[in-house]
Amino acid sequence: MGRKFCVGGNWKMNGDKATITELAKVLTTGPLNADTEVVIGCPAPYLSLTRSLLPDTVNIAAQNCYKVAKGAFTGEISPAMLKDLNIGWVILGHSERRAIFGESDELIADKVVHALAEGLKVIACIGETLQEREAGQTEAVCFRQTKAIADKVKDWSNVVIAYEPVWAIGTGKTATPEQAQEVHAALRKWFTENVSADVAAAIRIQYGGSVTAANCRELAAKPDIDGFLVGGASLKPEFVQIVNARQ
Ligand code: 13P
Repeated sequence: MGRKFCVGGNWKMNGDKATITELAKVLTTGPLNADTEVVIGCPAPYLSLTRSLLPDTVNIAAQNCYKVAKGAFTGEISPAMLKDLNIGWVILGHSERRAIFGESDELIADKVVHALAEGLKVIACIGETLQEREAGQTEAVCFRQTKAIADKVKDWSNVVIAYEPVWAIGTGKTATPEQAQEVHAALRKWFTENVSADVAAAIRIQYGGSVTAANCRELAAKPDIDGFLVGGASLKPEFVQIVNARQ
């Protein structure tokens, strides 16, 4: 397969200087599997601190950015600013951005395009709600969200997709390895049919939603699960075990 396992930690709006400094010590001690790409999604005010505390082998991501380079957009941050801080990644389209901040498929696609154009790597998040799953719409929702991005993105080499079923986020209800694998395989098939076989074979699809040290290995053993996007457990020492989940 040749897809490098990629584990993201999404700290969300958590942490302060003291706890981030402690967590950075844990991550620096690791040991973190050198065959796994690690990306830490850090709150904007702590990006520089976190970058300074972690080794270069650990990538840092912002959790959002806007779709243009600069201007009168109070409260927003631009990819150019992230690059200026030596931040190489950004998480876009997280379900919390979609649900709480009203981000549309189209806005997210525009953000992805601009971030890529500015040289950032992107973790683009998709996933269905419980209501959508129960209505049998899981694939339709994931395909719609992916298509919005695919309509605008031409080069996928710096994109990682994070499949995060909303019902599994922060709930302790992890998708079973079979449930996750089913959606990941369907997404890969969608890429084959709608983008190209090469992109489908190469693109990494992370699973996110209540991933812990206890369930990560079984999930990591599935052929189409290429990593994780971890929320709560990324704030704890067990994140090291999750990074090292792929045997
Ligand atoms: P939890 O791991 O806390 O469920 O959060 C997942 C998530 O939203 C990562 O982006």
